Formats: sequence, structure tokens, C-alpha cells
Amino acid sequence: MILNNKKIVLGITGGIAAYKALELARLFIKNKAEVWPVMTRAAVSFITPLSLQTVARNTVSQDMFALSQESKISHIDMAEKADLVVVAPATANVIGKVASGIADDLLTTIIMATKAPVLFAPAMNSNMYDNKIVQHNIERLRKIGYCFIGPAEGELACGNEGKGRLAPLEDIIDAAEECLAPKDLKGQKVLVTAGPTREAIDPVRFISNPSSGKMGYAIARAARRRGAEVVLVSGPSYLAPPRGITFIKTITAEEMAEATMRHYPQSTVVIMAAAVSDYRPKISHRKKVKKEEERLDIELERTQDILKELGNKKRGQFLVGFALETEDMLTNAKKKLKEKKLDLIVANSPSSFDGEVTQVSVIDKDGKVEELPSLAKNEAAERILDKVVRAIGS
Ligand code: CTP
Repeated sequence: MILNNKKIVLGITGGIAAYKALELARLFIKNKAEVWPVMTRAAVSFITPLSLQTVARNTVSQDMFALSQESKISHIDMAEKADLVVVAPATANVIGKVASGIADDLLTTIIMATKAPVLFAPAMNSNMYDNKIVQHNIERLRKIGYCFIGPAEGELACGNEGKGRLAPLEDIIDAAEECLAPKDLKGQKVLVTAGPTREAIDPVRFISNPSSGKMGYAIARAARRRGAEVVLVSGPSYLAPPRGITFIKTITAEEMAEATMRHYPQSTVVIMAAAVSDYRPKISHRKKVKKEEERLDIELERTQDILKELGNKKRGQFLVGFALETEDMLTNAKKKLKEKKLDLIVANSPSSFDGEVTQVSVIDKDGKVEELPSLAKNEAAERILDKVVRAIGS
């Protein structure tokens, strides 16, 4: 959503990770951005302009003085009209040039002339990356507002192990979105819970639900992009922890309650997207329960209602709950909003549990309902946060 219709100059410099820029261009296009590819002379040694042109669906610009190349968009247009410049991979050379104010080719000239945010995704040999000159250049650029993502650690093309791999492409996309997102949650401390909980019957069996955690993770990422400091308390989920946040892994409702309560006093906004088990087995067997009797009864006891507790202990926090309903959605959600002393509740149905898309209704303190259309969870997260921002700002 954030990248929709955005004009992105994608600068590719001469490193082996240049081949990954093809996939990056494709991902930008998939996110509905317009890509203006620019290659340095060295980049052409690694991938062909034709490949890039094909995936980027746009002419590749290489030479500042080749008039024939300035077809659709001139380099001045690129600098002035770009919403964002992404340099991926960024070599030590291009970082050094920009840090020193050198503009001797098309890419560095665009970077020097643009007022758009510039994001570097460095990729190089780890010794090169550790070099004090490179570190100093990065530091200098960071200080004056240039953004960096990565590099990641791992096996490098030169055979070394270490820090220098191009950041994962989804992190580069996420960082690009962060560059463009409004910083309307700056100064807020947002606590998010996500995923299911598991309540053990014995060492190999548990009671749980099919929540994937996708909605809560999307909210945590979106809040961070919008400038908040984020703590994500997650139940068991196969999703990778989002970057740039404090991540706390929990399993049971009790552990989730403990972690949430611990971070509650210092939070300004709390969003309980977790599908917490309401019951747990009264006895959790230490050894595997063997099949003996024809029938087995498991006695269950209530877990703590974390959100209700948060409502009772509220000290100015803005509290958002979710309501998972199979019937009478709005009536039940409104009841929960009151009973748990919430500021906002997001009503949804179990149909969106594991999917990429969700359809929710958001109800505010005064009972006003807004039914959102069916949206990708990332987009729904942004819309829910829009509501939070409007409410805490007023
Ligand atoms: N919740 C919680 N602790 C629980 C159960 C739920 O904090 N033990 C939170 C959920 O994270 C959600 C909200 O309360 O934000 C509503 O959860 P939901 O499962 O819809 O409802 P319940 O309160 O559990 O009530 P019921 O199961 O009867 O619908």
C-alpha cells in the first residue's frame, strides 16, 4: 500500500549481489511501485541491462551524457520526481563517493540532486565492510539522514563468512516502506500480542487454535514503520520476528500474560491481537498419556483474561482488543469493548485465521462501527493504526 504508485530510482552498483536486484525490482513492481533502474558501469559487468529492463518494465539508464538514453525520463526528472532512491547493492565505492560529495556518474548525480529519501543496502566483502573508512562513511551518511538496511551475516561470494551479504529482499522492501511511511506514531510505545497460545495436556499434546500470528505481526511492523517503539509478544508462530522491534516469544497464556504485564506500564498503546486460550488442562501430565480407557476426560480450568486485566489496570494506555466471533459479531464485540474497558475493538471472524486477507469491523468507544473491505493483512494493519493515530491525537 505504501509503495503504491511510488516512483523509485533503483540504483545498482557493481557487486556480485547485483543479480539479486533483478528480484528486488520485481518485488517493487509487485508492490505497485514504478521502478526507474539506473546501473553504474561496473554493475553492467554483473547483470545485463536487458534483464533489468525486462523485469523493471522501464528503460535502464546508465550514462549521464548519452542523450539517446534519456528517453522517457531525464536524469533531472529522476532526481526531482523520485519518491525514493534505493541503492541495492551498494558497494563501498558508491557509499564512499556519496559521503565525500562526489557526483561523477548518473547514479551519484541523482543522489546528490534529489530531495527524496535515499536507502542504501550495502553488500561487500566482510573485511571491506569492517574497514574503518567504510564504517566512518556509513556513520557520516546516517547522521545526515541517509538510511541503511543490512548487510546481513552469512556466507559471502568470496568464500568468507561474516557481515556483508545483501539484506534479505523482504527487509529491503520493508525498509523502503519505512522511508516513505508517515511518522505519526513517533514517541509512542506500542505493545502488540500475536498468535495462538498452547496449553499442554502432556509433553506431546496441547490445546491451541489455528491463529498464524500474521495480523499481529503486520500491526507490529506497521507501527515500527510509522515511528513507534514496538514490543511484540508472540505465541508460537512460524513467522520470522520482524526486524527493529523487541520480540518476546511465549508459549502458554500464562507466559503471554506475564510478558504483557511486564511491558504494560511503559506502553502508551496496546493492541491484543493474540488468540489466547481461554482454558487450559487442570493437570498437565509430565509423561505421555497412554491410551488405555475407551474414554478420556480432560478437566479444564480458565486462564487469565489478559486484556480484561489490562483494562482494569489502565493508566492512560490506549487499549485495542480483537473480538473473534462466529455469530452476532457486532453485538458481542461491543460487549467486550465495554467489559474490558477498551478504546477500540476490531471484530473479525475465524475465516481469516491463517489467510493473507482479512475483513474486519472497527468499533470505537462511542460504539461507532466502520466496516473495512476485505484487505491484505498489511493494509488492514495500516487502517487499524490510522484509527489509533486519529484517536490518540484528538
Ligand atoms: N483475550 C485475552 N485473554 C484471554 C482471552 C482473550 O487477553 N484469556 C483477548 C484477546 O486477545 C482479544 C480479546 O481478549 O483481544 C477478545 O478475545 P476473544 O477470544 O474474541 O473473546 P473472549 O474474551 O475470549 O470471549 P469468548 O471466547 O467468550 O468470545
